[in-house]
Amino acid sequence: MSFVRKTANLVPIADTVFTIVSLAQKDKMENGAENVIDATIGSLYDETGNLVAYQSFFEHYNAMDNKYKAKYAASFTGNESFRKQVINWVFDGHAKELNKTVIATPGGSGAVSSTFNVILDQNETVILPEIAWGSYQLMAQQNCLKARTYTMFEEDHFNLTSFKQVCTEVLNEQKKLLVVINDPCHNPTGYSMTHQEWNEVIAFLNECSKTGPVVLLNDIAYIDYGTNQDTIRTYFNCFNQFTDNVMAIVAFSISKTCTSYGLRCGAAVLCGKDAKKVREVEIVFEKAARATWSNIPNAAMDNFTWTTTENLDNFLNEKKPYIELIEKRASIFVSEAEKANLDIYPYKEGFFVTLKVEDNQFKQRYHEELMKHHIYTVQVNKGIRVAVCSLPVEKCYGLAQKMKDILDTMK
Ligand SMILES: Cc1ncc(COP(=O)(O)O)c(C=O)c1O
Repeated sequence: MSFVRKTANLVPIADTVFTIVSLAQKDKMENGAENVIDATIGSLYDETGNLVAYQSFFEHYNAMDNKYKAKYAASFTGNESFRKQVINWVFDGHAKELNKTVIATPGGSGAVSSTFNVILDQNETVILPEIAWGSYQLMAQQNCLKARTYTMFEEDHFNLTSFKQVCTEVLNEQKKLLVVINDPCHNPTGYSMTHQEWNEVIAFLNECSKTGPVVLLNDIAYIDYGTNQDTIRTYFNCFNQFTDNVMAIVAFSISKTCTSYGLRCGAAVLCGKDAKKVREVEIVFEKAARATWSNIPNAAMDNFTWTTTENLDNFLNEKKPYIELIEKRASIFVSEAEKANLDIYPYKEGFFVTLKVEDNQFKQRYHEELMKHHIYTVQVNKGIRVAVCSLPVEKCYGLAQKMKDILDTMK
């Protein structure tokens, strides 16, 4: 008999990122960094190959009194000023008709994982995108949930047909829905849904809500790197159409927004038409927080609040050139991919571009072949992820053609 719980999955985590990152490092040491293309790292890096850490965020954090950092947060749900500012920051005045409340979480991961835990019972099914951040599946497993996936695309747009089909099947089985949409700047394809697509999704979820409660988990981890920051949040107005039996949990991560991946701060924003139902979810979230991580670092929360209010202009001025840098890197790769006839998923904005390789076995061989040519990427379901967030402009040039040439030798 094992020491661990009966439902535990004993298969070790297949680490698709860190192993490849270290292989790329080794290759750089042996063959010179200039000869290696390392498109593995999913954090924001500058043109000199260094991790970006915003001064407008960290200088103030570093200057904070030790006692401030040492202190517990004011509440298990997060500091009051942080909770308020998260709503301001995330919605920017949109989705006015919804009641909203915030639970501070350790990054976006905490928000997603606790949503799975709070919303569904064991053996129920969460609905995920087929091409997705790998942690969703792991979180489902750890919470003893089943997962079903919807196909992300039909040609170059969101696959509403598949989305509806999977939701309908799950709804018929369990009379309740928890569905994950990672948008805008989807990881790993860089797709962002149109307002029309959002409207159709919400009209459909409203229809589903006649059969049972519907929770939309909208993971917005990369929202602050979308191309047009003035309009990127307007889709939230579509949420105003929710019926009383639909709610959204918006998973927000300051890891990406403030380049503070290690600080472990984020939030779950609970929102819906019916204040009582939102409050009910909040109560269970608060208990989940208290029973797992207890509270979120006091100084991290307050530093986010300060940075995005008192220091807002400096912060936005520091962040903007990086949005433009990612855009530049991506547009080089995407336009060259088009010219080279290299198939990619429909990219619009964000940290990653993904090659379309639907046969996973072939994809594995292709990934290995790329490494033999000193090109390091990350395998995702049905694709090869190219992290333009960390790949210098110079290395973006010519990469698509190289990848296509290698692909052609394998056919
Ligand atoms: C799609 C997506 N959601 C959420 C997260 C959570 O990040 P963190 O827990 O660092 O905020 C990540 C991180 O890579 C991600 O890619």
